[in-house]
Amino acid sequence: MEIIQHDVQRLDRLISDISDASRLDAELAREDAEPVAMDELLRATVSLFNDIHRDDTPEVVLDIAYAPGAHPYRVSGHDSRLHQVIVNLLENAISFSPPGRPVAVVARRIGPDVQIAVEDEGPGIPEENLERVFERFYTDRPQENFGQNSGLGLNISRQIIVAHGGRLYAENRPAAGAGRGKGDTPSGMSGGARFVIRLPAA
Ligand SMILES: Nc1ncnc2c1ncn2[C@@H]1O[C@H](COP(=O)(O)OP(=O)(O)O)[C@@H](O)[C@H]1O
Ligand SMILES: [Mg+2]
Repeated sequence: MEIIQHDVQRLDRLISDISDASRLDAELAREDAEPVAMDELLRATVSLFNDIHRDDTPEVVLDIAYAPGAHPYRVSGHDSRLHQVIVNLLENAISFSPPGRPVAVVARRIGPDVQIAVEDEGPGIPEENLERVFERFYTDRPQENFGQNSGLGLNISRQIIVAHGGRLYAENRPAAGAGRGKGDTPSGMSGGARFVIRLPAA
């Protein structure tokens, strides 16, 4: 019974993720992009996460830099889909965070782009998998979570960002105090994962 229940749960998750992904093209193709204030979207999403925050889950810390202009963090797109990307990245970051360590969401204006980074202090991602993690059905999680995840989250997230004219990529944060550049960090000494979203500002 336990095995059957476990499999049913897994299939349920898989089917809802797949059906969600299949609606994506049609939805994003529609010409109904609207102005989306990413700063407001981040504030709302982060406070949602912190409201359901339990003692054993990481706190999400939001850092939005001041930028000149009336609406520096405005992009053109689909509010609910952009929200979904942030949720996907936050759920991943939280699931890989060591107990008690925060997750950071950092928003910056970089030239004509809005950049949003989701950073954790978990194990990071092996260099050779930085692109693979975006493949459909790619999932690699500790034993106790085996079979619970569809491996579609990052793939869907990237599709959404690309459809918005942007980029989504992963990198490792240098280990604290290591003073080494990216790529030099020996495995097992990562300072955690960072997922970076770049969107053209509207
Ligand atoms: N913050 C992170 N730290 C380390 N590994 C990560 C992180 N986010 C994603 N990954 C890796 O990328 C894989 C794919 O992520 P995702 O597409 O969201 O699938 P899922 O969450 O269903 O496993 C994860 O299984 C994990 O191996
Ligand atoms: Mg995920």
